[in-house]
Amino acid sequence: MKKNTVPADNNSNVKPDKAPAVNIIGAGLAGLSAALTLARMGIPCRLISPMPSERAQSVMAEGGINASLDTMGENDSPTEHYNDTMKGGIYLADPNAVWNLCSKAPETVRMLLSLGAALRTENGRPVLRNFGGQKKKRTAYAKSSTGKILMTALIDAVRRYEAEGLVQRYSHHRLYSLNIKNGECFGAGIADIHNRTVTDIKGSVILAGGGMNSLFPGLTTGSTVNTGDVTALAFVSGAELADAEFIQYHPTTFPISGKRCLISEAARGEGGRLFVLRKNEPWYFMEGKYPELGNLSPRDVVSREIELVRKDKDCGNQVFLDMTGLDSSVWENKLSDLREECIRYLGKDPAAVPVEVSPGIHYFMGGINVDEAHRTSISRLYAAGECACQYHGANRLGGNSMLGAVFGGQTAAQTAAAEVNADNTGEELISGIATDIMQPVCVPEKAARLLRESLGIFRRGDILEDAVHEMQELIDREKNTLQRNRMLLGQAVLLSALNRKESRGAHTRTDHPERDDKNYRKTTVAVFDGKKIKIGFRDIPEKRGEVK
Ligand code: FUM
Repeated sequence: MKKNTVPADNNSNVKPDKAPAVNIIGAGLAGLSAALTLARMGIPCRLISPMPSERAQSVMAEGGINASLDTMGENDSPTEHYNDTMKGGIYLADPNAVWNLCSKAPETVRMLLSLGAALRTENGRPVLRNFGGQKKKRTAYAKSSTGKILMTALIDAVRRYEAEGLVQRYSHHRLYSLNIKNGECFGAGIADIHNRTVTDIKGSVILAGGGMNSLFPGLTTGSTVNTGDVTALAFVSGAELADAEFIQYHPTTFPISGKRCLISEAARGEGGRLFVLRKNEPWYFMEGKYPELGNLSPRDVVSREIELVRKDKDCGNQVFLDMTGLDSSVWENKLSDLREECIRYLGKDPAAVPVEVSPGIHYFMGGINVDEAHRTSISRLYAAGECACQYHGANRLGGNSMLGAVFGGQTAAQTAAAEVNADNTGEELISGIATDIMQPVCVPEKAARLLRESLGIFRRGDILEDAVHEMQELIDREKNTLQRNRMLLGQAVLLSALNRKESRGAHTRTDHPERDDKNYRKTTVAVFDGKKIKIGFRDIPEKRGEVK
């Protein structure tokens, strides 16, 4: 059956009779979760990624994972988690999908614990911390290295199925093409980064390629390996994007070489306070204005307030995070790694002095449009994790991304398993040599400038409109396919932002400062027909009866 078969990279004992039915692009939390789910169902899959899982962006995730486990005696419930998530996302997320996420969150975290994820526990029960936009302690954690701990457990769990040949690893491969005909996905082309071989693989495809960091060089906390090329390829191949204008600026970051370093929200969850110097006196500006959640208000709110105080003529331009009041036990047990990072990368001990912070791009709420079951607009093509638009609406709550990645990967895998096309599995065939394997990690500087200057925390219609025109000229001139795809993706973000003429969550328009539920409590949909990008608005699904 197989011709010119390329062996998967680390499976000396792959059983050739097990033909992969599903191909997963990306081996971070969402990809691993999808692979584990399929393998547990006995369904073989390929797990394809430019880096091994140990170097996936998920490893960098810090603060924690949300679940209403209610171990802190606060009477928490999935309903409250649901309500906080919907409210934090300013009611733009799919209520049924969010209910699935929140009602299954305790089970999801318990599953991770059962794999040996070393989250902090006391008397065998997970300890939960405060996180932004939530009134109850709901975030399970491992100091500020939660991503590393979850990834370690998942890598190990998947390894067992690699040995059985159910999960076939293709590390150091990147998605090269998608095989889509008449609205259906039949497989993909993947390129080996080292020897440039392109292999065509059959089967359904789950995309889990992370956020669109190549559009914003130097401005994101995420890995530069997560370029967004997977999303861009899906988009130019006809898959819809949703809510692409919603870009999360995390309030507490600082620049390091080529990117931004995150100071986890956990610092504020444990008592850290933001201040600015106003007439030379510290002003804790979040606390008076937001008495309920204060420094732990949702990220869109905090980042906007930081921008506003920086523009206030009575204030200095620099905002500080003051963690000097935290107990030594908090530093030792909960934030020792965060402290080490500040010392190493910022040259300051946060236990001793306030540290300078400013907002940085941390997450893309928008992405490939998926339904509740993680189907994209192309049949047998699915998406999960940050590359998909699901669960977070106009602003994601901290602690919901790792949850969304694990649960989304699981859901996508279950759907893909139920919809496998038995006539289209397994086969792989070397189809050529990639000539363009060495690519820049980000869009050309002119495109980056347009995106940077028009898609900040505050946006304005005329600036967005100019950016759209200039971006189109750049796209029309671009010869490099990968860069053109990225710029088309950037253009979809610009057009989505231009067309949403209201302010909501992470999208604040100074020329449309009000929220407009009547016209814009809708999903922005961007689609590329091969020539033009079209933007439309679609109603949010009706809430089903079981959703509280
Ligand atoms: O601040 C943080 O630790 C980030 C967590 C998240 O984005 O979920």
